[in-house]
Amino acid sequence: MQRLILFFIILLVIGCDGKSPVNIYDSEEYKNLTKEEIIVGESVWATTCFRCHMYGNMGAASVRDKVHFEQLATKGFDQLYESVLNGMDGKEGVMPAKGTCFSCSENDIKKSVYYIFHLAKNIQDAELAEKEKIIE
Ligand code: HEC
Repeated sequence: MQRLILFFIILLVIGCDGKSPVNIYDSEEYKNLTKEEIIVGESVWATTCFRCHMYGNMGAASVRDKVHFEQLATKGFDQLYESVLNGMDGKEGVMPAKGTCFSCSENDIKKSVYYIFHLAKNIQDAELAEKEKIIE
């Protein structure tokens, strides 16, 4: 019984701290991205991010990798943005600060983080549609 009570207390604490990250795909910012914001993100993507994240070079996750991107999405925007802004010494490889876009502003980097998830979803949805066509 004591264990059960402890379990509920832990649940309550986890549930109420207000800090558990919101999946980036469920965030208001992601859902309300404007065309202008997508264009800013896309230009950063095309300048640097794509070199590693298009096909998964240098240990980066490829935008085609649905499982990996869905896992990353659960980290929430703040954590993901922090990783890109300051760089990340990951298990698979190293991402330099700002994903090497040194001339990018913090706002540019923020938009690129939303963009990479936007792109990943579009590519993955397109591939899924393609597969379904083949099966038919
Ligand atoms: C030099 C290659 C390289 C470039 C350029 C690059 N990345 Fe990365 N990125 C990586 C690697 C390596 C990781 C970490 C992989 C691991 O070990 O988990 C990573 C991780 C990430 C993550 C996950 C962070 C986390 O907390 O798990 C995101 C999001 C990301 N990159 C977005 C971007 C964006 C946006 C850009 C462009 C501004 C970019 N990357 C440019 C190599 C790169």
